Amino acid sequence: MLLVTIMIPVPNPFTPKTGWEPKIIVGRDSDLEFFSRKLYEARRGRCDHFIVTGGWGMGKTSLLMKYKKIAETHHVFTSFVSINEFSRKNTDLDGVKYLIEQIPRRFPLPLAQLKNFMKEMKALDVEVIGRGLNFSAKVEGIHPQTLLTDVLLALWQDIQEHSEAGVILLDDVQNFQPINSLFTILKNVLTDEQIIKRTKFLFILSSVPAGWEKFLAKHHPIGRYFSPRIQLQKLNKADMKKVILANLEDTGVEFEEEVIKRVIHHSEGNPYQLQQACASLYDKQIGGKVSLIKKNEVEDEIF
Ligand SMILES: Nc1ncnc2c1ncn2[C@@H]1O[C@H](COP(=O)(O)OP(=O)(O)OP(=O)(O)O)[C@@H](O)[C@H]1O
Ligand SMILES: [Mg+2]
Repeated sequence: MLLVTIMIPVPNPFTPKTGWEPKIIVGRDSDLEFFSRKLYEARRGRCDHFIVTGGWGMGKTSLLMKYKKIAETHHVFTSFVSINEFSRKNTDLDGVKYLIEQIPRRFPLPLAQLKNFMKEMKALDVEVIGRGLNFSAKVEGIHPQTLLTDVLLALWQDIQEHSEAGVILLDDVQNFQPINSLFTILKNVLTDEQIIKRTKFLFILSSVPAGWEKFLAKHHPIGRYFSPRIQLQKLNKADMKKVILANLEDTGVEFEEEVIKRVIHHSEGNPYQLQQACASLYDKQIGGKVSLIKKNEVEDEIF
């Protein structure tokens, strides 16, 4: 009898695509601890909304997704919304419509169970189609601030018996930038007396630094409101090495020490660059080994 052993390669463990959960998160201990504190406070009624800023690939989405997981371990409802790109043609109302369409459907309850929210939609003649909303002319006559306030109040009534707080994660809020006063509306809604007294929503935003720059002017009301700000720092060398070794664990694949050194050097503390370079190099393994063959092997893998 002929025995054939087929080697099935271990799938590439690196996670260069945004949204792919990294095997381990390094260098973010204080940012995670900060969130745990804010979550604890929110569950007791003190919602200290804040923003996370970081350049491209620095780990904003990954951190927000980790926040979501932490909240879920405390049985707190979360809604994770990636903000779409808007243009100057869009209005405040478009931004608010987007939020009220996205936030409810990302809570872990079917829309039909969000009774107060559905009642609110019905009163506004908004048709709920599947998980989307068909906005009516009636909505056009309402101030966006009032609309968002009313929807959040209704949503809180719906979730409060299931959850001690509601964590709303808005990823990439720089995409709201062309809509001039959306952040002012958001701030005004969150400072509304009824929202403060009757709801426990904690908003966490993320943005590239350029998208938040204008709010950083001294005493700017928006910058002050969503502070303290978490600025994502570059990963240090030891942490980057930890990521590489943790990902390679149990794969049977080894990176030569010089490869690791060069990846760390060339990815410059950027988690995306690190993951992307390692993912490409991993695919080039020969017999479970990744070693330097060409002079610029590592450099070529980094954009
Ligand atoms: N702290 C970390 N430790 C290890 N890997 C990380 C860390 N943060 C992010 N990563 C990895 O780096 C990649 C890029 O991270 P992420 O997509 O979260 O960054 P981003 O700042 O949201 O990027 P973008 O600018 O595309 O929005 C992810 O695929 C993730 O696997
Ligand atoms: Mg992102």
